[in-house]
Amino acid sequence: MSEKAILTVGDQRIELPVMKGTDGRLSIDISQLHAQTGLTTYDPALANTALCRSAITWIDGEQGVLRYRGVPIEQFDQAPSFVEVAWTLIFGRLPTRAELDHFREQLTANELLHEGLKAQFQHIPADAPPMAILSASLSNLACFHRQFIDVEQPERLVEAAARLISKVRTIAAFSYRRSRGLPFIYPDPSLRYCANFLHMMFSLPYRQYEVSPQIEEALNLIFILHADHEQNCSTTAVRVVGSARANLFASCAAGVSALWGPLHGGANVEVIRMLERIHAGGMTPEQCIRDAKDKTSPFRLYGFGHRVYRNFDPRAQVLRRLCDKVFADLKQPDPLLDIARRLEELALADPYFVERKLYPNVDFYSGILLRGIGIPTNMFTVCFAIGRLPGWIAQWKEQHDDPHSRIIRPRQVYTGPGESDYVPIDQRS
Ligand code: CMC
Repeated sequence: MSEKAILTVGDQRIELPVMKGTDGRLSIDISQLHAQTGLTTYDPALANTALCRSAITWIDGEQGVLRYRGVPIEQFDQAPSFVEVAWTLIFGRLPTRAELDHFREQLTANELLHEGLKAQFQHIPADAPPMAILSASLSNLACFHRQFIDVEQPERLVEAAARLISKVRTIAAFSYRRSRGLPFIYPDPSLRYCANFLHMMFSLPYRQYEVSPQIEEALNLIFILHADHEQNCSTTAVRVVGSARANLFASCAAGVSALWGPLHGGANVEVIRMLERIHAGGMTPEQCIRDAKDKTSPFRLYGFGHRVYRNFDPRAQVLRRLCDKVFADLKQPDPLLDIARRLEELALADPYFVERKLYPNVDFYSGILLRGIGIPTNMFTVCFAIGRLPGWIAQWKEQHDDPHSRIIRPRQVYTGPGESDYVPIDQRS
């Protein structure tokens, strides 16, 4: 017998169906509540609301578990390529060799930017934030590839996805080159995904950047760990825009804008700023912890805490181990890593963080790692976006393929004035 939830409001007794996920978790289905009773539910920040049904990513926040299409992320430690993970997320299963080769060919075929899109970089101020450039450029792709604006042709999705995943690294690298006043380096079709990105970032004309296998492998794993995280803030932004049947480029541009915020992807930059300040003697780790606990200050311990994880973020665990490996391989210790470890130690022993179950999240170690492999700080969140793009595409596709999908349009609890008359401006006190 299917379970029901009973809601009593005044003398109304309302029976609500209960849904069960494939993981056994229950969810009260209130989708007909307003239509049948006129009632709404109040859930600020949607902290208790399942926005959709999704088969892409699974998280157990209590145990610190994350799986893509059923596969625990620790199994990706043995480094399949980021491109294989992207395909898996978007198309719902691990690809065959032929499918993966075909997708790779599509990425290579689409790695160049239209010269018109490239020209826009000349008019952007050199110190423009790369996340602003990325969001605008993804949106602008719709100007140059107008065949993808029509979202009603599903076969076009693969082509659009290949363009986005390929071009995002070209756009990202060009925005970095622009910020340094350096000439653009075109993609090299003989290089793999991550190596090609590093080449476009760091090669010079007639001086090829030599990509170390350890650095390529580390970047590959960083991208994989960021590839999807179910209904997080930027993915929800993508779904909200996509629910209006807006095209994939516009929807992903919205995702970039949401990711930019310091409470979301921008936290990886804030972590480094915090560690650099401590390193420069501007504050001690103990002071940092004190400030983070001070409710009169907006300061937070960046890279700590999570809406879903009440335990270690498994991505942070993998990145912590990767830090040890990369810095040992590079024989180049980073003093910021020692400071980060000290902060982590202090926080994990502090009742404030223990009681609230605040643990390091993905952003705590990713910045140190990106810094170690030579990525400048203003490109950290851009790297997060490159990694997250397959997840946004997968979620957009899932929503688009869902026959029950409707435009996302929440309700509100109105707290403004009742009806009041318009007063002409010269009669107002
Ligand atoms: N430092 C100090 N206090 C914190 C922190 C932190 N990093 N995180 C949460 N808290 C406190 C918060 O003040 C609140 O305290 P109280 O119960 O006394 O009011 C309690 O812990 C619960 O926090 P919350 O703000 O209600 O939690 P949330 O689910 O709304 O926010 C979060 C989650 C990630 C935005 C938050 O933990 C945070 O601001 N962390 C720092 C920013 C950060 O690292 N963001 C990256 C998130 S992971 C990757 C991603 O999404 O990009």
